Amino acid sequence: MVYVLLLVALASLAAAVVLRHFLPLLRNHDLPKGSFGWPLIGETIGFLGAHPSNTTGGFLQDHIARYGTVFKSHLFGAPTVVSCDEELNHFVLHNEERLFQCNYPGPIRTILGDSSTLVVTGERHRQLRSMFLSLVASTGLKANYLASLDESARSVVASWRGLDTISFCEEARKFPYKVIMELVLGLSPDEPVARRILQEYQIFMKGVISFPITIPGTPFARAVKARKRISETMERFIEERKRNPSKQAVFLDVLLANKELSHEDKVGFLLDSLLAGHETTSVLLSILVYFLGKSPNIVEQLKKEHETIRSSKGKDEPLTADDYRKMEYTQRVISEGLRCGNIVKLVHRKALKDITYKGYVIPAGWKVLPILGAVHLDPSHHVEPEQFQPCRWEGLNQSAGKSFAPFGGGARLCPGSEIVKVEAAFFLHHLVLNYRWRMDDEDVPMLHQYVEFKKGLPIQLEPL
Ligand code: HEM
Repeated sequence: MVYVLLLVALASLAAAVVLRHFLPLLRNHDLPKGSFGWPLIGETIGFLGAHPSNTTGGFLQDHIARYGTVFKSHLFGAPTVVSCDEELNHFVLHNEERLFQCNYPGPIRTILGDSSTLVVTGERHRQLRSMFLSLVASTGLKANYLASLDESARSVVASWRGLDTISFCEEARKFPYKVIMELVLGLSPDEPVARRILQEYQIFMKGVISFPITIPGTPFARAVKARKRISETMERFIEERKRNPSKQAVFLDVLLANKELSHEDKVGFLLDSLLAGHETTSVLLSILVYFLGKSPNIVEQLKKEHETIRSSKGKDEPLTADDYRKMEYTQRVISEGLRCGNIVKLVHRKALKDITYKGYVIPAGWKVLPILGAVHLDPSHHVEPEQFQPCRWEGLNQSAGKSFAPFGGGARLCPGSEIVKVEAAFFLHHLVLNYRWRMDDEDVPMLHQYVEFKKGLPIQLEPL
């Protein structure tokens, strides 16, 4: 009798697994072509395979060749439509909350926390996002902000004096960290609380790029704990600032005075600005140094632009909004870094209802993954897409569009995009005017879920 019951239980379990996996296929829909792969894990392992960031990677290349730029698959535990098509990507991004909704996988939500702007939806998203838009408005191209940005870039570059070799990825983190700490919390990175946050943040980042299992001791589990400690430190910091209002940073004042946001959301906002604003910018700087290091002619042209700007002002005079507007070639270099770097390869959405698009159906509840990077590397949009060629942007609109969307689009377009561009431009100014650099041992930007230089991008410096 026990055996019969056991058999029935096993058979039911098997039926449930098979149904969950294959039921979507049985529905009478014009689904895009594609394969569901293995039961449960689907094609997730192949999809997550690492590849150089300026290539599409074997998985997507193979699937696009077999099924076209839109195909079905089974990823992150759900039936999925993968889109490498600029039109569909645009359509998905611009129909947030109407037809599609942001839907990051469980491990990403665990690590970012429930109050992250990236994962919240609906009204809460609108409120948190509007805080980011006020942060951006508080900077703009205002003289004070630009002067402090200039000072931060200058001091990081100057700190390399006397060094032959540096690990660039580590150095690249210092500049955006300094900027975001000063901008949001009004803290110098040397203050004990800022140092403590940085230590925890480093543990956190190791977890973000690790395999997501919450067994104690794994990088992922340690990262979740580190995020909690950062959050507690931020909370204590907020309390301290409330007690000593005279010391408050301007933007922190705005945040604390906001009546719509809960205390938890305010802490979430501070964490987001640190996490979203810090790592992405430092990766962009590393990508630029990597591609420029391989292109001496581009560096020469860049240097000429910055020499002209500097020649019109004193040696120590800070850069201004006018100077920034003159950095036209620099902007092309940055756009090309964003295109080849693919810092955010894809975004996660789910379909809220059955959607018919160009003849195929995306069923309600399915995951939809617009792959921003695949469009950046599509030869029908960008000639010789794997080559770093800033001149391709000459005369073109470099703001986000259908075939160039490094910052996403629509209601969730990255609010930090302008901040990043100014940071990168000022950093390049001080870098090319002070150093030549060489990469002895090539350390390629690899795209896992996240761009990583395995060896930390060691470079040899030669002062000018
Ligand atoms: C090179 C640097 C950066 C890149 C490539 C980047 C890219 C992106 C992308 C693609 C998204 C859209 C995610 C989605 O649609 O699901 C996004 C969202 C976001 N980014 Fe950035 N980002 C960068 C820098 C920054 C900076 C400097 C900040 C903050 C100061 C920031 C804050 C955010 C926030 C808060 C969101 C969520 C927006 C929302 O859901 O409404 N990012 N970013």
